[in-house]
Amino acid sequence: MDPRDFVRALADENAAFWRGRDVRQDPDASPAVRLAQLRARMRQGVYNELRSVELIAAWLPHVPEREMQSLLPGQLDDEHRHYRLLRQRMIDLGEDPDGFRPLPEWEALFDWLVACRARPTWEKLAMFQFAGETQSCEGFETLIALGRDVDPETAKLYETAILPDEYKHAAIGRRALTLLCDSPSRQTAARAACVEMNERIFNAYRHHRARVETH
Ligand SMILES: [Fe+2]
Ligand SMILES: [Fe+2]
Repeated sequence: MDPRDFVRALADENAAFWRGRDVRQDPDASPAVRLAQLRARMRQGVYNELRSVELIAAWLPHVPEREMQSLLPGQLDDEHRHYRLLRQRMIDLGEDPDGFRPLPEWEALFDWLVACRARPTWEKLAMFQFAGETQSCEGFETLIALGRDVDPETAKLYETAILPDEYKHAAIGRRALTLLCDSPSRQTAARAACVEMNERIFNAYRHHRARVETH
């Protein structure tokens, strides 16, 4: 299959997986519940942004493709800026972002991604940038919508300082796959990597939701 057609088909498959599956948040819930969901996302988000920095740093020496090498440091810089912005917002809200214990499922997800460093670029970037970042854009869109009235300042922070970068990161994934998935075996491997990643993220989401509801 032509790489462009493959990337389009794979994007559709990922979108189909996620239809109705982001269980972390509920836009129709009461304001108090939505605020609790927003705060839970922010606490975990500070951690996730920092782990994203670590992850890209770990992958960089294992990405030989020149074009990807020139895009990934920009993403690393973005994720570190997101970490600093979210962490500061939590401090401004009177929380201690450094005292937060991440959910073991998120910790395991990042540990696994770091351990995948030696896998081929079309598998790694299929997982994190293509599948993961595309889903996180969807998640941020929902989060912004549910947070707009209960915490407009945080919603604006996500909308103006984080979401546009996450769209860029998802585009890096599309670029990598369009460039590299030029054979049936690579396409098969990239597709399997997306399935694996989607299932792991979904598992983390389910535990995330359960954690919010028991608090
Ligand atoms: Fe980020
Ligand atoms: Fe990102």
